[in-house]
Amino acid sequence: MKKIKFQKPTGMHDILPEDQRYFEKIYSVCEKIVNFYGFKKIDTPVLESTDLYQKGTGMSTDIVQKQMFGLKTKGGDDLSLRPEFTPGVARAYLEHGMHSLPQPIKLYSTGPLFRYERPQAGRYRQFHQFNLEIFGDTSPAIDAQIIQIFYSILEELKIKKIAIEVNSIGDNQCRPYYKKLLVSYFRSKSSSLCTDCKRRLKENPLRVLDCKEEKCHAIISQAPQTINHLCADCHAHFKYVLEFLDEIQLPYRLNPHLVRGLDYYTKTVFEIVSESTEEEKAKGSLAGGGRYDLLIKLLGGEETPASGGALGIERVKSLLSPKEAKPSSYFNPSIFLAQLGSSAKIKSLKLLEEFRKNKIQVAESLGRDSLKAQFKIADKMKVKYTLLLGQKEVLEESIIVRDMKTGKQETIKFDKVVKEMKKKLKK
Ligand code: HAM
Repeated sequence: MKKIKFQKPTGMHDILPEDQRYFEKIYSVCEKIVNFYGFKKIDTPVLESTDLYQKGTGMSTDIVQKQMFGLKTKGGDDLSLRPEFTPGVARAYLEHGMHSLPQPIKLYSTGPLFRYERPQAGRYRQFHQFNLEIFGDTSPAIDAQIIQIFYSILEELKIKKIAIEVNSIGDNQCRPYYKKLLVSYFRSKSSSLCTDCKRRLKENPLRVLDCKEEKCHAIISQAPQTINHLCADCHAHFKYVLEFLDEIQLPYRLNPHLVRGLDYYTKTVFEIVSESTEEEKAKGSLAGGGRYDLLIKLLGGEETPASGGALGIERVKSLLSPKEAKPSSYFNPSIFLAQLGSSAKIKSLKLLEEFRKNKIQVAESLGRDSLKAQFKIADKMKVKYTLLLGQKEVLEESIIVRDMKTGKQETIKFDKVVKEMKKKLKK
């Protein structure tokens, strides 16, 4: 076979027709649950100003330092493909004056994101998220509710063996002191840290806690823990979050080194991970998020509390059983329309429209002329009835209905066919 000249870009994927049902199922469960909790959908551009991510996601993050797909427009604007939703949604919240509406504002988004990562199982350069943000609410109950929503989505999708990890990383009251402690601890071990961590230590010592390198793990495990150095406000907030989680009986565990790889978080951070197999664990979290009370101010707004999280669609899809992925809108027709001759083809187009308007799914193969080939397709699709429209039927304004199980055929009036088929399918 001749070598194909073009292939998809590294780390990016085609979502083939046979895979669409998994995506549809995940989105439909997510939307059903967040509709119940009063979230409204927002779509933001796939491209935003690079500056927004540098400020929002943070200069010290791997995302901004290594993973952005940037471009310069012909007009000279510096834009980047969105690596995450949060800064874009926060920008839209401010730009459309949502801060002057009654709070909280609950928003959800879905769509593709882009990160220039080293491609591996569960880590892509183009992937999809289901993302939630709540603006204008300081309550720890909101943090717990976001965790609960993601957990419920995974439960409803029958994803087994999942665990919730939570932590608090403090705020700008208590974090500076904690950072100092971290710096002095990591400095004492700096000769054993990886090159990236040596750099991270200078830029943001919290990022060291996020390192995936084996050689840094032993050092990180002995590092000072945020929860032992929280100010009274952050301590009380975290205590409430845990009480809410206990109250709604969510199985969580404290992970004192969970800091998340984004700069905007304050107080609560969480991840939901799969523990089904070592392989799944290695892919990384299924969902993650937390509170980010300083971001809106950083982007030029008033101080506004906020909390959110996102679920990775591809990672959830890899755990979804085919049995669960049967969305209601899936094309599963009970009728096949076979035609023979040019005038029958023309009449078929009109008839198909009639069926569509009556919400009856009908398969066809208008490109084929041979009846034998069309019957073969109808057999394969396991339809209940095949309709046959030939030259003779067109002239007589009739149509043949064949019961595929019994092989019995009957001729009915063409203008009664939709009504008749409706009756037959109801039986
Ligand atoms: P994140 O942890 O970077 O958080 O991403 C959330 C989820 O997206 C991850 O748990 C994972 O399932 C999926 N994900 C991330 N990177 C990849 C990748 N390269 N390939 C496949 N899946 C991936 C955020 O993006 C935050 N904006 C979440 C948030 C919203 N925090 C507050 N509000």
